[in-house]
Amino acid sequence: MPQRAQTYLLAISGSLRARSSNAELLRALRLLAAPRFEVRLYEGLGELPHFNPDLDGDGAVLPQPVAAFRQSVDGAAALVISSPEYAHGVPGALKNALDWLVSGPEIIYKPISLLNASPRSTHAQAALAETLRTMSTVLVDEACIALPISGRALDADAIVKDDALRTQLEAALSALAAATPAYFERRVELFGEP
Ligand code: FNR
Repeated sequence: MPQRAQTYLLAISGSLRARSSNAELLRALRLLAAPRFEVRLYEGLGELPHFNPDLDGDGAVLPQPVAAFRQSVDGAAALVISSPEYAHGVPGALKNALDWLVSGPEIIYKPISLLNASPRSTHAQAALAETLRTMSTVLVDEACIALPISGRALDADAIVKDDALRTQLEAALSALAAATPAYFERRVELFGEP
């Protein structure tokens, strides 16, 4: 897909649970993507400090976990976010991470796949889509899907073995990959470098 050093997809689970169904969904995507695409799971969501614009402006020194997170986002060809819904909202840890990206250039024009391990979680999915559009990302419609995983104790291997789930995940992955060349062209227009 990409013609530059940005060759991985960054996967972010909005759940901090050790047995998270959203994280398993992302691990399943990683299994399906290999060896064509590298999927890197971001593991630092719980270590990010609370967003504070005072730490994010001119002359401020970004906290180290934030700097590392922004670098991971910057280097990705696309993002895949899979998140639960809590009380009809986006989990605070995930919204906090997105807030740290608002004023930087790293996420601009980035193609995004929004996954969801529970088709009931429509409020969080809609709120995430609104936030990400506001941040000038490109939501890839065919790569935004909810799959019935939550509550079924399916791990990544079981998800991949399920024909219906695998077919939908592969379609989402292909749609996301197809969106990356246009992203790189727009990045060159914006930043003047590949
Ligand atoms: C939930 N869940 C939930 N689901 C939903 O569709 N609407 C909601 O408002 C809520 N609220 C909610 C609150 C709290 C405190 C918990 C713990 C759970 C269910 C939750 O979103 C669902 O089980 C996710 O699929 C869990 O994701 P992980 O942690 O397995 O990735």
